[in-house]
Amino acid sequence: MNYFALIPAAGVGARMAAGYPKQYLPLLGKPMLRHTVEAFLRSPLVAHTYVVVSADDGYADDVLPADLDGVTVLRCGGATRMESIRNGLRLLASRIGAEDRVLVHDAARPGLTPELIEKLVAEAGAEPAGGLLALPVVDTVKSKRGGTVTTTPRDGLWLAQTPQMFPSALLRRALEEAPDPDAITDDASAVELLGLSPRLVEGHPRNLKVTLPADIRIAEMYLSMESTQ
Ligand code: C5P
Repeated sequence: MNYFALIPAAGVGARMAAGYPKQYLPLLGKPMLRHTVEAFLRSPLVAHTYVVVSADDGYADDVLPADLDGVTVLRCGGATRMESIRNGLRLLASRIGAEDRVLVHDAARPGLTPELIEKLVAEAGAEPAGGLLALPVVDTVKSKRGGTVTTTPRDGLWLAQTPQMFPSALLRRALEEAPDPDAITDDASAVELLGLSPRLVEGHPRNLKVTLPADIRIAEMYLSMESTQ
């Protein structure tokens, strides 16, 4: 069984309002996407990394030049994250076996480390339903519906991170059968809709998703620290 990384990087990053896609923002002087890809390139477990960008992306070739070993850029991004991943999987159908594991990881999570990849593979690599990095909720959770505020018990609640890892045939089926691409914000939820329970593997706060301008300094702080301890 081989492990492949698939990184959707075809978003525009509207909430970052940087004037260009956030995956190319410099963090400690290096584009975010390059940090993200390097976590996989440094992992001995990952056979190859595929990055999905949009057809008109003008940055990827500089950030991930063709002579960089271990990574291939696919120009098949779609209108939603799920479409980008689905298009990538279709292109890779002849290169990735049905039982090979695909680790889908957001370009916007540059704090991933080879150690976290290893932990996910060790704890969920053999799971038929796959698994994902996630963090137990530590704050009290409030719900606001109209003017009514209630408290949701945090017991049993987790925040999903990526990578999310699945047998490739299962992931393809889950995404092809998912009823509403806009409602699927992570791959595990498409697998859950098939009645399966992917395994939750405790991740690390350094694997945050860089979304708002304030996240940049936090990501840089983690990137300047090597360890996940
Ligand atoms: O916008 P958000 O941070 O939720 O996007 C998560 C990931 O999905 C990012 O890496 C983004 O580039 C990717 N994406 C994509 N195609 C889209 C929208 C988002 O590959 N159409």
